[in-house]
Amino acid sequence: MTTLLRLDASARRSRSLTRTLGDTFEREWRKHRPDDAWIIRDLAEQPPAHLTEPWIAAAFTPVEARTPEQHQILAASDDLIDELAAADVLVVNVPMYNYGMPSALKAWVDNVVRVGRTFSFDLGRGDFPLRPIMSGKQMVVLSSSGEFGFEPTGIRGDMDQLIPHLRTVKHYLGVSDMHVVRVEYQEFGDTRHKQSMSEAIASSKRLAGAVAQAITTPAAAAE
Ligand SMILES: Cc1cc2nc3c(=O)[nH]c(=O)nc-3n(C[C@H](O)[C@H](O)[C@H](O)COP(=O)(O)O)c2cc1C
Repeated sequence: MTTLLRLDASARRSRSLTRTLGDTFEREWRKHRPDDAWIIRDLAEQPPAHLTEPWIAAAFTPVEARTPEQHQILAASDDLIDELAAADVLVVNVPMYNYGMPSALKAWVDNVVRVGRTFSFDLGRGDFPLRPIMSGKQMVVLSSSGEFGFEPTGIRGDMDQLIPHLRTVKHYLGVSDMHVVRVEYQEFGDTRHKQSMSEAIASSKRLAGAVAQAITTPAAAAE
């Protein structure tokens, strides 16, 4: 059985475009693979805590040397990492806020990218001492922005700190393949936005079918 981890990061519960795309993806996936398990993590509703100095000290203390208090400090992070580790597919529904990711999603990233759990750290490896521990996951990013042109060649290509950031950290989440759907023009609310939204809905459905199929037949996915 495949496990999917759905992360929602929009502070809006009503009229959220990213939640709508996430619902579309989830509905379509369930049509293809009704028996798969879903872990639903609403980061806007329950934002993970920001990191603290005791958290960092606990994370960098070898597990066998941690005090009971340090284990307690890392308990919430452990739960989030356990969810991540269980997942074969991550569905990340994420708005652009101030050209990057909402702080709730950033707090999740900070809690799960952790030495000894999701990456190893060895200075003996020269310039690249960080190595991911997990691999093979698919990540689907369903995003929305008020402005437009954030694709690499677009008029705001150099202002996008959301997708490039996720692309950079994805290795430490164990993600091998990342798929992106974007809705744009939300603040304009014009025909360009309507077209962008209907294309994103179609892409979300298509992607759900394609990734579900690839999971079913991994050899086909590797071709
Ligand atoms: C706090 C906040 C910050 C935002 N910052 C940006 C931004 O930097 N660039 C942009 O294009 N849109 C920005 N937007 C617009 C959102 O990306 C857009 O409304 C998106 O559809 C929100 O996702 P949602 O519909 O799932 O809530 C911002 C919206 C909010 C509420």
